[in-house]
Amino acid sequence: MTTYWNVDQDLLPEGTERKKAVDSSIAQAAILLQQGETVAFPTETVYGLGADATSSTAVERIFRAKGRPSDNPLIVHIADTEQLSGLIQPLSLTPEHHQLMKIFWPGPLTLVLPVQTGGISPLVTAGLSTVGVRIPNHPMALRLLRSAGIPIAAPSANSSGRPSPTLASHVKDDLDGRVGGILDGGPTGVGVESTVIQIVNGQLYILRPGGITSEQLRSALPHITIHEPEREEISAVETPRAPGMKYTHYAPQGFMQIVQGGREDEVSAWIQRDIDAAKARGESTGILTFEERASWYRADLVIACGALSQPETIAQELYAALREFDQAGIQYIAAEGCEETGIGLAIMNRLRKAAGNKLVYV
Ligand code: TXA
Ligand code: MG
Repeated sequence: MTTYWNVDQDLLPEGTERKKAVDSSIAQAAILLQQGETVAFPTETVYGLGADATSSTAVERIFRAKGRPSDNPLIVHIADTEQLSGLIQPLSLTPEHHQLMKIFWPGPLTLVLPVQTGGISPLVTAGLSTVGVRIPNHPMALRLLRSAGIPIAAPSANSSGRPSPTLASHVKDDLDGRVGGILDGGPTGVGVESTVIQIVNGQLYILRPGGITSEQLRSALPHITIHEPEREEISAVETPRAPGMKYTHYAPQGFMQIVQGGREDEVSAWIQRDIDAAKARGESTGILTFEERASWYRADLVIACGALSQPETIAQELYAALREFDQAGIQYIAAEGCEETGIGLAIMNRLRKAAGNKLVYV
């Protein structure tokens, strides 16, 4: 059975009753974690499915609940930098790491660092010699981590392959009955996962684009080379990688392709013709677009996913939009793309994965 706690500050009535309810929910969730159970909790990016990183029995439960391949390592969540000792090898932090932690923690940046053997379950790192660590910037996540007092391994709280959850209801849809508890803290903020980075030989590699943009990393560390895997062809041999990025992710059940091009009128005309043809074949149709352009289209479901003028809103709404196509049983989806600057790099990374890399350039 899954215990469900509502700690959404915006929904509960204000006052001492609310404070008591939240305190007691966090305390119960922390105890479940200490007992080796799994608990889904909100972070500023997406909901995570947490378990005691030091216990293989607990970590095994995460993989089982999600149906996650065991060669895909988990990110460890901590409440403060003191918790790094015991987790990573002493003296492995460079001045660049310190600079990044100072600027971006708590926040959506995961640092991949040499793991301290014996510190956490080897299942967390999938046998790698490194571990991904971050301090999430969400009041409920921080309170839970502090109360539990242990490092918490937490992947996104979705079934493996589905879009990451940005609402507790998404977690429920995927994992109800399969996890110990769900802490509902309302909608998450950023909407896409943390940026995963590793520093190797003085150069920074973005292993997964996310909530902290490469522009932000560049201004924090102007003197070091930053590699963005998506923009460059780098040899597969010596480049560090996030093992999880090779899996199909976020994909809706229907067919989905991305349509891009130099001229927006040509893109929209192509999409409408393509969608009309699918409709004529008898398929239910969907279009993923943005607020500025939604009125241009006709389909069974047209989703305005944020506004191009405010790309953060696209990130916030993307995963919920992908889930909505499934709820409506849409069989054929055309998606527009956005510019790959700032948060747009992470948005397009996820959208391409969701579309299984099917891309039409008109
Ligand atoms: O925002 C986030 O990062 C969310 C919230 C819950 O914190 N978590 C999350 O976890 O997205 P997950 O498991 O869905 O994605 C973790 C990514 C995977 O692509 C994995 O391969 C990579 O991080 N990763 C973890 N440890 C790594 C390591 N030691 N080396 C390289 N990549 C690693
Ligand atoms: Mg995930």
